[in-house]
Amino acid sequence: LSKAFTARAHTNIALIKYWGKKDQELILPMNSSLSLTLDHFYTDTEVYFDQALKQDVFYLNEEKQNVSKVTQFMNIVRRQAGLKVFAHISSTNHVPTMAGLASSASAYAALAMAASQAAGLQLSRRDLSRLARRGSGSACRSIYGGFVEWQRGHDDQSSFASPIEENTNWNICMIAVVIDKARKKISSRLGMQRVVETSPFYTAWMKSTERDLAAIKEAIKKRDLKKVGTIAEENAMKMHALNMSAHPHFSYFEPASIAVMHLVELLRSEGICCYYTLDAGPNVKILCSVEDSTRILDRLAARFDKEQLLVARPGPGVHLINKK
Ligand code: DP6
Repeated sequence: LSKAFTARAHTNIALIKYWGKKDQELILPMNSSLSLTLDHFYTDTEVYFDQALKQDVFYLNEEKQNVSKVTQFMNIVRRQAGLKVFAHISSTNHVPTMAGLASSASAYAALAMAASQAAGLQLSRRDLSRLARRGSGSACRSIYGGFVEWQRGHDDQSSFASPIEENTNWNICMIAVVIDKARKKISSRLGMQRVVETSPFYTAWMKSTERDLAAIKEAIKKRDLKKVGTIAEENAMKMHALNMSAHPHFSYFEPASIAVMHLVELLRSEGICCYYTLDAGPNVKILCSVEDSTRILDRLAARFDKEQLLVARPGPGVHLINKK
């Protein structure tokens, strides 16, 4: 029985999206990306190795899960540590009810840290980021807090995230509008793959995303919310345009997603600085200043229930915690 380690990782929302792989097995992305780690949504994961186990055991929110994906990831950890023992893994997602935000990003970042520690590996944050990437691409960014860049690199060694501003003192927040979680949608893994294989606009996406990334880094440095928001919103729309140009085409937008986008545009025309972004689902995240967030929430409240509106601020990178 090894010592148990528990790690906490927060989710992140991309302002410049990762959308496409050039290597499915190693999870090497076609383009670099940039995200903001959030404080409110996180996953706690405990890992210990146990000689008595015949296979890995994985509990999520106290329910036993299928282990195939997690075992694949644990095999990478075992290989690195020269271990042949199976592990007991238990994760809790701390995401306000109705979710849709519990992401693979916080899950694999927390698992990477807890598992590598329990296996006796002392990984640098760079190597932790590379390890988390093998579970889910976006997870490599949740190793760090605040603004984080994932440089695509060209192989396993060179593809990892690094912090842009870990503890940002910028007064910004993200409002997540949680819209319908019922409909079965296409996973990001399949969605991005179909786009790479079939969208006629993919080369243009890679070129323009490179420009967006350089520009948003400048704008972050200057604390220029208008510029950061505009670039993020446009980058997200380019990603969703790829989906609509794929074969067969698809979209994550729901009518309510579009209604929120229109409301944000209306608020902007009234002089409130706010911008939207969407990932592989219908939920809309609104980037704005903390001061403006109450006015925006008031307007959203006319249409959505309180439980559908979640506000988050920049959050920290992955870290070990003492289990209660
Ligand atoms: C739209 O990291 O979930 O959220 O690497 O296949 O696990 P896999 O994909 P994942 O994709 C995230 C896509 C996105 C954009 C982003 O977070 O950059």
